[in-house]
Amino acid sequence: MAEFTLPRNSKVRRGKTHPAPKGAKRSKDFAVYRWSPDTDENPRLDEYTIDLDQCGPMVLDALIHIKDDVDSTLTFRRSCREGICGSCAMNIDGTNTLACLKPIDEVKGTVKVYPLPHMPVVKDLVPDLTHVYAQYTSIQPWLQSQTGAPPDRERLQAPDERKKLDGLYECILCFCCSTSCPSYWWSGDRYLGPAILLQAYRWLVDSRDEMTGERLDALEDPFRLYRCHTIMNCAKTCPKGLNPGKAIAEIKKMMVARV
Ligand code: SF4
Ligand code: SF4
Ligand code: FES
Repeated sequence: MAEFTLPRNSKVRRGKTHPAPKGAKRSKDFAVYRWSPDTDENPRLDEYTIDLDQCGPMVLDALIHIKDDVDSTLTFRRSCREGICGSCAMNIDGTNTLACLKPIDEVKGTVKVYPLPHMPVVKDLVPDLTHVYAQYTSIQPWLQSQTGAPPDRERLQAPDERKKLDGLYECILCFCCSTSCPSYWWSGDRYLGPAILLQAYRWLVDSRDEMTGERLDALEDPFRLYRCHTIMNCAKTCPKGLNPGKAIAEIKKMMVARV
């Protein structure tokens, strides 16, 4: 049986146990969050002991092996398996990250896998992203310009203008940052959170966009922007090495500069 303790006061219970296959030489224990809100009263942690010789090196490889060969009822999102799509974001060994970029070898003892924290759960490791995507829509994440595009070529940017988008355009909207942010946990209904604010800043500093004033007006609100208290969990957890807290600070500077 896998070695782990459940968090105190947790409603999560120990669930089913799936032992190692016969002849396994490199066994590893996984404890995986399972919950179907429509049918289960409480979530549970199911235990799977797998043979690492039967799967690839990443946590996502192990989850795919479990689903394909051990327990087809396990539900999780994934697509690219190379850190590009953001869909396999989950909490592994206490940290929000991408399962496809997390080596199993980095986890000592049982690999504990939960969905992203403080989000409604659709099933098992699948969070409901409806609200956070509505917040994304609210910042109008597309180029807005009164000036028409040149008829014969794309809109040009000088190299130094383009450089301002570095550290922003790489965001894959995995929401590891927002779901690690205490301010977003408590005020996520109104605070936009680090992922969406990083995206908002990406359009604010795009030299081709002509709606900077309107975009800042839309963020001028005690909750939407100003709930960030610079705790910086967001930068610590981002699997792409981005710094949403810094982007938020830059938006605040832009607000101050225009008064
Ligand atoms: S810096 Fe701001 S956005 Fe990032 S975790 Fe802290 S409060 Fe949240
Ligand atoms: S800033 Fe990083 S953690 Fe946040 S959504 Fe973008 S890629 Fe994910
Ligand atoms: S599967 Fe696409 S980021 Fe992990």
